[in-house]
Amino acid sequence: MSALAQFDDDCGAGDSLHVFEAIAADLLKKGYSIKPNAVPIPLSGGLWQQLRSMPRHQLDLAGVGRQQAHTVNNFIRSDAISWIERDAAAGEDWLNWAAELQQYLNRRLFLGLFSFESHFSHYAPGDFYKKHLDAFKGQSNRVLSVVLYLNPDWMPDDGGELALYHSDQSHHGERSQSMLKVTPIMGTLVAFLSEEFPHEVLPAKRDRYAIAGWFRVNTTSTERADPPD
Ligand code: OGA
Ligand code: MN
Repeated sequence: MSALAQFDDDCGAGDSLHVFEAIAADLLKKGYSIKPNAVPIPLSGGLWQQLRSMPRHQLDLAGVGRQQAHTVNNFIRSDAISWIERDAAAGEDWLNWAAELQQYLNRRLFLGLFSFESHFSHYAPGDFYKKHLDAFKGQSNRVLSVVLYLNPDWMPDDGGELALYHSDQSHHGERSQSMLKVTPIMGTLVAFLSEEFPHEVLPAKRDRYAIAGWFRVNTTSTERADPPD
């Protein structure tokens, strides 16, 4: 083992830098990244506990769209969410981790990520989120989506996969859509460009827990302060 690998094994920050670099390299090459064991185990464990100790009413039925446009639309999605603030230790650790990732990606890829928002989500058995984009070109300042899964002991036939669609450009020039499925197992992180990748959550046989988050760029102009709320 090299001295560097030895050092990284002893040092949590070193591990994070390896993960951040792997995510950056994937985003550059493919626009998305799927990383098992992306966050330190105490962090995913803490988030899992925070979620499980939450009173039921703290998880609100999710809506589609923001502010005035916010409507609870059970046809598109049926999960329940709770926004993550710095008022709980695990939530704060997660937001700090996301801030470090943001800083790394900005330095490495010049993405200009400016802020981050995220929520816990709970999908009861049978719940779903139909195929959607997290951002529409020119209409949103969400540029990078991340999802962290919080399900220990998830079995292959429990369902609940994230289906991520992407168009491939073959070397002959024709385009084709392909889909890959991500099992929502504890500690796996998915990151993808919000405007580029339609995706959907398939129904599961058991309760499915995750965090969904979005990095935004700042679109403040003289005409319009952002965010407006
Ligand atoms: C979302 C979303 C994916 C997942 O909340 O926008 O697409 O796997 N979540 O939970
Ligand atoms: Mn989404």
